[in-house]
Amino acid sequence: MSAPLLAPHRSVRRFKPDPVPQEVLLAILAEAQRAPTDATAQMYSLVRITDRDLRLAISQACGGVPPMESAPEFFLVCADLYRLRALLHLEGLPFGNFPHIGLHFATVDASLVAQRLMDAAEAAGLGVCPIGAIVNGIAAIPGLCHLPPLVMPLFGVCVGYPDEDPPLRPRLPLSLVLHENTYRIPDAEELRPAATFMNPITRSGSWLSVLARYFAAGGVMEEREAGLYATLQQQGFSTR
Ligand SMILES: Cc1cc2nc3c(=O)[nH]c(=O)nc-3n(C[C@H](O)[C@H](O)[C@H](O)COP(=O)(O)O)c2cc1C
Repeated sequence: MSAPLLAPHRSVRRFKPDPVPQEVLLAILAEAQRAPTDATAQMYSLVRITDRDLRLAISQACGGVPPMESAPEFFLVCADLYRLRALLHLEGLPFGNFPHIGLHFATVDASLVAQRLMDAAEAAGLGVCPIGAIVNGIAAIPGLCHLPPLVMPLFGVCVGYPDEDPPLRPRLPLSLVLHENTYRIPDAEELRPAATFMNPITRSGSWLSVLARYFAAGGVMEEREAGLYATLQQQGFSTR
């Protein structure tokens, strides 16, 4: 295997209480802002949640998310078309009607920024953990964080000095995720050993069981659908 190019990534869920120094934080955020952005627009916002009571309230709305509560830094990563609309209004221009395209590109913009933030944090010796569990309580978040219309919370990012040393967790073989020119349909003989290879990523030792809990009929993702849809509508990201 070739030498790693970046600081190794593994999600960290236990953090030391030590604060992240201001200059480190600003350096990380400056790196995050260098992310490429669709049509120059920077359709994202990061909401840094420093108020402990607010942090707790968000966590509780989401069913209790321990890393979110203990991390010295927590950022709510949002798709943001509000600022873009306000910029167009400076010129007296009406905003276009493109809620789905807007969500698509704002989600990409926000995700690229968050990934760069995490890469920079890890390069600075910090640990990070993305938090998709905010979707469990997504309907409460716009009210708690005063998000205006056209701002949609996507996920959170915890940042802090690690208080654990988790292993590098496995990934699917490259041959399953990299296609050349056309999509190659994998067969069961290829999928089965790949699923076995992924087993150590779980506590239970069965990756397929974890996938079932989240993605099978009746699973966690189905439960999240209604809250997400209602919040998309409320925040102005759906025309239906
Ligand atoms: C969009 C997204 C949402 C995630 N949500 C959570 C979460 O809510 N709680 C958590 O502990 N980890 C969360 N993770 C971290 C994943 O569980 C982790 O990346 C995965 O298990 C692989 O482990 P690794 O990051 O250590 O390689 C999330 C990751 C992503 C990309």
